[in-house]
Amino acid sequence: MTLRVISHSLAEHLLVSLRDQTTAPCEFRRLARSLTAILITEATRQLEVKDVIVRTPLENTVGHILTEKVVLVPVLRAGLSMLDISLELIPGASVGYVGMERDEATAVAHSYYCKLPPLQGSRVLLLDPMLASGGSAAAAIDQLVTAGAGPISLLSVVAAPQGVERLTKAYPNLTIYAAALDRELNDRSFIMPGLGDFGDRLYGTV
Ligand code: URA
Repeated sequence: MTLRVISHSLAEHLLVSLRDQTTAPCEFRRLARSLTAILITEATRQLEVKDVIVRTPLENTVGHILTEKVVLVPVLRAGLSMLDISLELIPGASVGYVGMERDEATAVAHSYYCKLPPLQGSRVLLLDPMLASGGSAAAAIDQLVTAGAGPISLLSVVAAPQGVERLTKAYPNLTIYAAALDRELNDRSFIMPGLGDFGDRLYGTV
């Protein structure tokens, strides 16, 4: 498994406001979108391309277009905040959905919804902004693998060492892209320093 923590001044700048407890949901959504654009840019750096000839107003030139099929899979509900901008950047991508709910008392994740397009021959970009214990990510990845997924990349805004370690052991071929690797989980499985509950901060719920 590969962990890529984005080293980017703009990503760091955006993350400060995302963490700030006074940031309102509308601004939080905008920041999540911008950070996702950076994560998507990194995660698609090595996608397969082919040469094409394009006619500019002045002459022909060679360019590259994507040939690798991409499936975007947001983990409900927080991952939804990462979908629109991902589709804007990769409009040809297919979309699947995985719904994961975490039992607040036990912190164990269970799946309540799964709807996936064909995955064979595609790169799957799993969108889950908070990689905490890794329970929901692991359950989502298991569903993707069962459905025939090939290479999977996980895009998270913030990751915790425990989640990274768990996924490292379980999925040697996984690549994780994160804007930050935080210190630890607290006794309620929140990432520290983190940014609180991502879904609640997105939608103003408590
Ligand atoms: N999910 C969140 O939204 N926040 C955390 O800190 C951990 C999991």
